[in-house]
Amino acid sequence: GIIILDFGSQYNQLIARRVREFGVYAEILPFNASLEEIKNHNPKGIILSGGPSSVFGSEAHLVDKELFELGVPVLGICYGMQLTAHLLGGEVKKGVKGEYGKAELNILKSNDLLNEIPAKSTVWMSHFDEVYQLPEGFEIAGKSENVIASMANEERKIYAVQFHPEVSHTEFGAQLLKNFVFNICEAEKNWALTDFIENEIQRIKDIVGNQRVILGLSGGVDSSVAAVLIHKAIGDQLTCIFVDTGLLRKDEGKKVMENYGKHFHMNIKMVDAREQFMSKLKGISDPEEKRKIIGREFVEVFNDESTKFDDASFLAQGTIYPDVIESQSVKGPSATIKSHHNVGGLPETMKLKLLEPLRELFKDEVRKVGVELGIARELVYRHPFPGPGLGIRILGEVDEEKVEILQEADDIFIQELYKNNLYDEVSQAFVVLLPVKSVGVMGDERTYEYTAVVRSANTIDFMTATWSKLPYEFLETVSSRIINEVKGINRVAYDISSKPPATIEWE
Ligand code: XMP
Repeated sequence: GIIILDFGSQYNQLIARRVREFGVYAEILPFNASLEEIKNHNPKGIILSGGPSSVFGSEAHLVDKELFELGVPVLGICYGMQLTAHLLGGEVKKGVKGEYGKAELNILKSNDLLNEIPAKSTVWMSHFDEVYQLPEGFEIAGKSENVIASMANEERKIYAVQFHPEVSHTEFGAQLLKNFVFNICEAEKNWALTDFIENEIQRIKDIVGNQRVILGLSGGVDSSVAAVLIHKAIGDQLTCIFVDTGLLRKDEGKKVMENYGKHFHMNIKMVDAREQFMSKLKGISDPEEKRKIIGREFVEVFNDESTKFDDASFLAQGTIYPDVIESQSVKGPSATIKSHHNVGGLPETMKLKLLEPLRELFKDEVRKVGVELGIARELVYRHPFPGPGLGIRILGEVDEEKVEILQEADDIFIQELYKNNLYDEVSQAFVVLLPVKSVGVMGDERTYEYTAVVRSANTIDFMTATWSKLPYEFLETVSSRIINEVKGINRVAYDISSKPPATIEWE
């Protein structure tokens, strides 16, 4: 397949996804992976990604020059182009103002990489430094204004572009990547999800044998797809544990039992931990404290349950490729904005081996696998739901009454999104319950009740987001249904904050 060396650009995963969409396997390795490791992957081509560092800095992210001697075609993108120039004897300088956003690429000398791309086209730029002196043996292939936008050494099959072919704003970006993958690297189509499913089922059978596997089922996409896939392989040797924290969406437990218990005949152990969570959260209103309590209790309940299956040999998890990349990434620790929680470590004494059948897949691939396995489309394309659940959507202190109010209001909003074909148009939508009461009037009666906030965000990577421009008439329906049907809410507001500076969730 194709190896992408990760220098920290936010677009890296996009490069890998594009290549895989062509049917060619692509993998991301940290930039400091050893030459040995890279060689072990037997790559057909290597892509050097963009990244925030500069070749000048004392902490510049460099690679061994030998990389260019492996006889494997190389494509440098953005920082990857500057790095290529720098390592092979060219010169990079600080730009005057940098280029950000759309720019025009003028092809001066076409080559295999730029095949079938018109002489002038739109590309997406995001850089400050630029290459101004080419290494020996290289030619300028294209420019944008006065900046060298592409260079090539055709004989050595080393190519580079200053722009980002992986983003959709680059008009012929897909063509360029295809040229690299098929014409230059001569990669073969070897990546299809149906093959993946068959191979993975066989692999699971082989490693599990007749042993028992346990899996924490949350109702979310990743754990559900992992569960169904493993179940296809080993049937009743899989036991799922579903923890009802009391902080889930309306009827979530019931739906999980119906969809996965009844429909797929999976073994699901339902653990009712509602009281435990509620009592631990009593009197607590600080968001971080709530998150920590919920995370801790979850691990405790899950561990208690799993230890009961003392014949278990494997713990299965819905880890997906972005989680793997994140954990191997060389980016420094970023400030903790919110403490996220996932299933924590199991007690040492259990000595379970990990089974992670989705480790190689991107989210959109996981969804396709889910559909292929027969999971309802609606379940597979659900919006993400945070681990701490409604615990962080009820601002301030959490109690059972508030959970019920919020579940009803949230359910109405989601129902209406489906009914109006808007659910798939937004990335994440939910209702938040504020502990603020205000005065209203219903019939001839004065009311004094809580405020609900309707939140809907559009985003690609959940790092930045804009609020969804939902139609007024739609919002009107949602608001009037919530106020009329949910006892305890007499006012609805719509959140029009973007991220940053706001976040998607309220706590
Ligand atoms: P924020 O609020 O930080 O959320 O803009 C970004 C995305 O992360 C989700 N989120 C979580 N997911 N555990 C999770 O698994 C958590 O603790 C958690 N907190 C936030 C949030 O729903 C949004 O999709």
